[in-house]
Amino acid sequence: MERSMTPPSIELKGVSKYYGNIEALKGLTFRLEPGERYALLGPNGAGKTTTLKILVGLLSPNSGEARIGDFSPSSEEAHRIVGYLPDDASPYRSFSVRENLEYIGALRGVEDVSDKVDRLLDYLQLREYERSKVGSLSRGNVQKLALALAIVHKPSVLLLDEPLNYLDIPTQENVIDYLKSFNSTQLVSTHIMEVATRLTDKVIMISRGVVIWKGTLVELKKLGKEGESIERVVARMLTDVL
Ligand SMILES: Nc1ncnc2c1ncn2[C@@H]1O[C@H](COP(=O)(O)OP(=O)(O)OP(=O)(O)O)[C@@H](O)[C@H]1O
Ligand SMILES: [Mg+2]
Repeated sequence: MERSMTPPSIELKGVSKYYGNIEALKGLTFRLEPGERYALLGPNGAGKTTTLKILVGLLSPNSGEARIGDFSPSSEEAHRIVGYLPDDASPYRSFSVRENLEYIGALRGVEDVSDKVDRLLDYLQLREYERSKVGSLSRGNVQKLALALAIVHKPSVLLLDEPLNYLDIPTQENVIDYLKSFNSTQLVSTHIMEVATRLTDKVIMISRGVVIWKGTLVELKKLGKEGESIERVVARMLTDVL
């Protein structure tokens, strides 16, 4: 059903979000066209995680609007097509790895769940832990499972918060290949420029809840002086607005 379809756009229009008196997002506005892949960069506390949570429908904006294609993020239609990897991934601890995947797969309406889970287990090198309870896994293996849970339904929108954290190098390489092969619109929050450059080709930079820069990685590199690393360029841009 979802195969070879154009993935949806992602849009925030004037989104404000308060936690008590703290205004985490201040009229945040940006748009990703179908199939575009953007890194979401910004200093600690800029509002990246809040932005992703609004796009998944876990938080509602105080004002403004978020859209996944034509849908509200809290709609059932959006839930079917969005995959989310939280920064503090917490699969069901008393379930095994396989039970988590089969349960979430079934909830997501995945056909042939068991086969699908087999493939994901192999791909992420989780096979030997399929019967282990989540509570007994290493942090990296919890992250692999969280990633598997985020993609088990082949989402056409991927919202990823620090996706490669804790992963060993072979798994990082597998995950990079896998995410690149996904026909989807992707927004990836990260502090690691190499993750941004390997997974995406464009950047949205936010600070204190507003967009301060949007463009391609090529344009971003051009803002640097001769021989300056992209990390330096980003650090300068983020420090200038603090
Ligand atoms: N549950 C919460 N209660 C109160 N304030 C919150 C809560 N979650 C986030 N905030 C505040 O909202 C702002 C944005 O936080 P957010 O977690 O979205 O930032 P971030 O860009 O993801 O930061 P980091 O790079 O550290 O992950 C910060 O000022 C933060 O302190
Ligand atoms: Mg965050």
